[in-house]
Amino acid sequence: MPTFNLKINNKSFAVEADSDMPLLWVLRDKINLVGTKFGCGIGQCGACTVHVDGNATRSCLLQVSQAEGMNITTIEGLSEHGDHPVQQAWKVVDVPQCGYCQAGQIMTASAFLKTNASPSDSEIRDAMHGNICRCAAYNSIQEAVKLASKK
Ligand code: FES
Ligand code: FES
Repeated sequence: MPTFNLKINNKSFAVEADSDMPLLWVLRDKINLVGTKFGCGIGQCGACTVHVDGNATRSCLLQVSQAEGMNITTIEGLSEHGDHPVQQAWKVVDVPQCGYCQAGQIMTASAFLKTNASPSDSEIRDAMHGNICRCAAYNSIQEAVKLASKK
């Protein structure tokens, strides 16, 4: 089995894996970063979203062989103490219900706000629409993204 050198949350990891193993499984099963969730496995729900070179990326669709040399950030690495502005806004608004989709939502929102620091409500909805929440916390998610944009 080949070895892949990955940079995740500013640390280096040498991981033995099949070259087509999705990054999601590498994170969860090889490195024990289980904050990133499996939802659909086909790029449709957003639960597995991480940052790859700063861009929100579905880790279920990215093969480990494609991830070498890229800067990968998971929810565990978004901030040192869980105090990224988006995480703070999530707490203020009390967004999570079951919580399953929340890491993906936060990773999508935090990447989005880097590209648009003062979004309108419709821009927030457009940016977040690919992240499914089975608890339908969409109004709270929108409110929290708006609040984070003001920080
Ligand atoms: S698990 Fe990756 S998009 Fe659903
Ligand atoms: S909070 Fe339950 S799926 Fe989103």
